[in-house]
Amino acid sequence: MKVYIKTYGCQMNERDSEALAGMLTARGHEITDSETEADAMIFNTCSVRDQAERKAVGKIGFMKKNKQVKPHLIIGVIGCMAQRRGEELLETLPHLDFVLGTGKLQTLPDLLESIAGDRRRVSETGESAEVLTGMGAHWMPEQSWGAQIAITRGCNRFCSYCIVPYVRGREISRDAADILEEARMLVSRGIREILLLGQNVAAYGLGGDLNPPRPGYSPFGDLLEQLAEIDGLHRIRFTSPYPTYFNDRLIDVIASEPKICRCIHLPLQSGSDPVLKRMNRQYTAARYEEIVAALRERMPEMAFSTDVIVGFPGETDEDFVRTRDLMNRVGFDNAFIFKYSPRPGTRSAAGEDNVPQAVKEERNRLLLEDLAARTAAKLQAMVGTETEVLAEGPSRRMPERWTGRTGTGRTVNFPPFPGIAVGDLVKLKLLRAGNIALYGEVAGHQS
Ligand code: 5AD
Ligand code: SF4
Repeated sequence: MKVYIKTYGCQMNERDSEALAGMLTARGHEITDSETEADAMIFNTCSVRDQAERKAVGKIGFMKKNKQVKPHLIIGVIGCMAQRRGEELLETLPHLDFVLGTGKLQTLPDLLESIAGDRRRVSETGESAEVLTGMGAHWMPEQSWGAQIAITRGCNRFCSYCIVPYVRGREISRDAADILEEARMLVSRGIREILLLGQNVAAYGLGGDLNPPRPGYSPFGDLLEQLAEIDGLHRIRFTSPYPTYFNDRLIDVIASEPKICRCIHLPLQSGSDPVLKRMNRQYTAARYEEIVAALRERMPEMAFSTDVIVGFPGETDEDFVRTRDLMNRVGFDNAFIFKYSPRPGTRSAAGEDNVPQAVKEERNRLLLEDLAARTAAKLQAMVGTETEVLAEGPSRRMPERWTGRTGTGRTVNFPPFPGIAVGDLVKLKLLRAGNIALYGEVAGHQS
């Protein structure tokens, strides 16, 4: 069967979709980008904000016409929204064939084949631990230089605004041996950069404990160390770690291992203590800045990115200014700003969503403006220096140039040289800065 997969939301969803595509291909099905040629359309959905759900529901609603043209077409919703809404989605969308939640994603190929046979309408939102192991085996990532490996699933933290613990279940960690095997397999197929994924990667191997690990102990650090030993692997990235899990051991591993990228995504959410408290985040703004300082002390070149929510219930102008000031002090290289969106069933949704939309918009705008100004200054400051990038292939906008990324996450465009291969490490001299990218020329090369 020809299967079309559309993915919404985070990198974990992208990774799941890639793994499912691999499983379907192994069964003899074909993945297609064409909506009209598809025999099955799968929508891998996100629930983290209301807008993400609405977008997916809108698109799926629109697919009714495809089914009128092609009655045997199977349409399914999988992922977080499927988990959250289950049966109700079948009622809302009469042309939908099945709903498959996050807990049993690995059963998708079986489910598709059985529905093709008996045309039963199915809603499956149960849990199974196999979702961790059942999706590792046979898949090939979309990009030939980089791949993503899920090391944990679910989340135990229950930040008061967040739907993730409800739709992705309790936190579980995959066996290190499994992860290492998957990484070695990928590297043997030419992968040079691995991105480790999890809702809280730094809690890896702690058995779901909410307390940060004791000094000197970090199973996540141990895993990073073992991954870094793989020959042929150039770079390791990870996202996202909860801030308080950076202890001396983890910082030491990162500082000692140049393969681990100098770029950390450290979700802040708010820079105001009363707001952090209501969000059920287990740190103060001062503690957050201490963690950044501890990382910078060992690695002054470290780049930081973050997530921030504006307009959380009760966020005052003063709270917002604290967030804005903290962001400027840290000098984030990148930031994802989200306008608060109440998610039914979460603790903060029980209260009133009392920051007006216009205020959310304005706070969002101010933070994005700060970020753009900072980015321009940072890129400009890099001009004239040398840096190493991992080559990702021809630039989409200017195919005569190649694109690469620095260990700190910056994009650099450069003229390629004969024999250059995707995944090579290339030394570049930076010549000028654009709005979001840099431009350079080749100064050296390692394949
Ligand atoms: N409203 C707005 N943003 C949210 N996030 C999570 N839940 C919500 C919500 N209800 C943001 C957080 C998180 C990122 C993935 O999405 O900043 O880090
Ligand atoms: Fe959501 Fe908080 Fe878990 Fe992140 S740590 S997934 S924000 S509950």
